[in-house]
Amino acid sequence: MDKEFISVKNIVMEFASADMVTRVLDDINLTIKKNKLTMIVGPSGCGKTTLISIITAMLTPTSGSVFFEGREVFALSNLEKTLLRQKNIGFVFQQYNLLSTLTASENVSVPLLAAKMPFQEANKRAVRILQAVGLDKHMNQLPSSLSGGEQQRVAVARSLVHEPQFIVCDEPTASLDQENGKKIMDNLKKISQNQDRAVLVVTHDNRIFSYADEIIYMNDGKIVDIKYNKKLIKKTKTSNK
Ligand SMILES: Nc1ncnc2c1ncn2[C@@H]1O[C@H](COP(=O)(O)OP(=O)(O)O)[C@@H](O)[C@H]1O
Ligand SMILES: [Mg+2]
Repeated sequence: MDKEFISVKNIVMEFASADMVTRVLDDINLTIKKNKLTMIVGPSGCGKTTLISIITAMLTPTSGSVFFEGREVFALSNLEKTLLRQKNIGFVFQQYNLLSTLTASENVSVPLLAAKMPFQEANKRAVRILQAVGLDKHMNQLPSSLSGGEQQRVAVARSLVHEPQFIVCDEPTASLDQENGKKIMDNLKKISQNQDRAVLVVTHDNRIFSYADEIIYMNDGKIVDIKYNKKLIKKTKTSNK
């Protein structure tokens, strides 16, 4: 049975400027299930990044609710929201947001050090996950000396290292070639097949649509269609036996 993990109810987001109010999200309803890779796709400017910023409690909507395992996120204090994110969510930002004065392995260690893990253990785990995304040779480089694709893989490694239940990636393959894009998606797919984890990927890269168990199509601030990839769901179930 599908387990409902996160539920998004009637989300509306409006941005106000001097003389007008723009509605960027218009009554969004969706659920995110564990053991699934969900994708949100749609043209540039349709509201994808705004929506996942709300789902991960980084941005407060004009109205509506997000329930994280039954807990209403916007009823939590700022500290509770920060702790929820720190413990349960791994986020890959569209612009990577790596810390420019830290090396690749130090950047990846940050979520573990924030959770008070001793440095040596944190470093060991960071190295392991960087190897898994093919960055063995770049552990000690600063972000400025890495290519866009390499920085993107550091950002993905950082989102995975503390083994969060919920991994959210904003355009994770945007600057990757076929081979490295596949490596990242294979990794995310494997994680999503875990009974207790969920992966949400925002993308307009149609090369990776086949990795999705469920695709949510957005246009102009609205959900216009939801499709289930039955073949993949079946395959996932068989491989869990
Ligand atoms: N902080 C903001 N203030 C005003 N408008 C914003 C803000 N953030 C996003 N928008 C607008 O909301 C719309 C959706 O943006 P975004 O969520 O980034 O779309 P996508 O990720 O699908 O490309 C765009 O028109 C964008 O200009
Ligand atoms: Mg975006």
